[in-house]
Amino acid sequence: MIIGIPKEIKTAENRIAMPPSGVQTLVADGHTVFVESKGGIGSDFSNDEYIRAGAEIIETAGEIWNRSEMIIKVKEPLASEWGMIKQGQVIFTYLHFASSEELTLGIQKTGCVAIAYETVTSANGRLPLLEPMSEVAGRLSVQEGVKFLEAPMGGRGVLLGGVPGVLPGEVVIIGGGVVGINAAKMAAGLGAHVTMLDIDIDRLRYLSDVMPSNVDTMFSNKYNISEALNKADLLIGAILIPGAKAPHLVTRDMLGLMKPRAVIVDVAIDQGGCVQTISEHGPTTHEDPIFIVDDVVHYSVANMPGAVPLTSTLALTNATIPYAREIAGKGYRQAAIDNPEIMTGINMIDGKITWEGVADAFDLPFTPVEEALGL
Ligand SMILES: NC(=O)c1ccc[n+]([C@@H]2O[C@H](COP(=O)([O-])OP(=O)(O)OC[C@H]3O[C@@H](n4cnc5c(N)ncnc54)[C@H](O)[C@@H]3O)[C@@H](O)[C@H]2O)c1
Repeated sequence: MIIGIPKEIKTAENRIAMPPSGVQTLVADGHTVFVESKGGIGSDFSNDEYIRAGAEIIETAGEIWNRSEMIIKVKEPLASEWGMIKQGQVIFTYLHFASSEELTLGIQKTGCVAIAYETVTSANGRLPLLEPMSEVAGRLSVQEGVKFLEAPMGGRGVLLGGVPGVLPGEVVIIGGGVVGINAAKMAAGLGAHVTMLDIDIDRLRYLSDVMPSNVDTMFSNKYNISEALNKADLLIGAILIPGAKAPHLVTRDMLGLMKPRAVIVDVAIDQGGCVQTISEHGPTTHEDPIFIVDDVVHYSVANMPGAVPLTSTLALTNATIPYAREIAGKGYRQAAIDNPEIMTGINMIDGKITWEGVADAFDLPFTPVEEALGL
């Protein structure tokens, strides 16, 4: 198959969909891989490295889209790319259709086969192509929190690990899933005292078993969240209710419980945010990541992994490459028949919307994927 890897064009998106190691694997499988010139620069991969891995460097995005049977990307195609998509072309990337009707209709018109990373679902309900970015965002949330806790950055001036004779900082994490556990590992590793809250009692049992002794767990309810806010130097929002907007677990009036210049990092901003003041303000950017309300520092960057593209590219592609190989090797139809996880990734075929959540979001007709595949 001819596979194209275009340069990402979304603002501040420095990841690329395949590192040279992935290209080498696909070429060894017998595929032709086109990489857009300088597409890997943001992730520190040069054209030469791609050439050594067996790729052909293509100067323009137009030529890549035009000559490829399958496009592998990181972010959804932007409006300027829609005109380059060909009917029947397979596009494997994050799509998040339900967040934009314009995007959904724009891609629907092209008649491509849209396979979305975010809906690829394993038999046990896990989302294997979202997990690596949650791992990155979870770990990064502490790194960002630590940075903004420094006084010159606007924070309380607390060293999370403390020093001999001085107590460590307090980190409160609401949500103990993939983001939460990765944040807790980082904060605990720095020596902070960590409190994790979740509503899933089995998950709390697990966390209590595996986390070090400077991590405590609490059941998540308004009373306990209020208690935790009182002592937090750094609060991390890490909840997810699949398919729903995040609820406001920290309301505006609860901010008053926090210490002056404490820091909130609401990782759940991409689902609306679980802190009311963050949800009402909306996402911030890597260029201008924080704002202050009631003397509390708020951080709400929606694409946190974009800040660490070298790590994020590798983390993402370690997870996507097995699926990319299967789709390229068998063709998307056979790959979907053989692998139910790939079947769940298919959001559109030839203008038919095959992921119910997307059709429902905009009241558009839904075609079950099996029907669209003629099974
Ligand atoms: N901003 C970013 O760049 C970025 C990157 C990756 C993930 N995210 C977001 O981070 C959030 C967490 O993702 P994840 O992969 O860890 O999800 P996950 O499903 O692994 O974990 C979510 C956890 O939240 C818990 N939860 C649900 N309601 C709760 C409540 N009321 N109180 C406490 N806990 C509650 C669940 O029980 C679960 O353990 C999601 O909103 C995700 O979209 C953001």
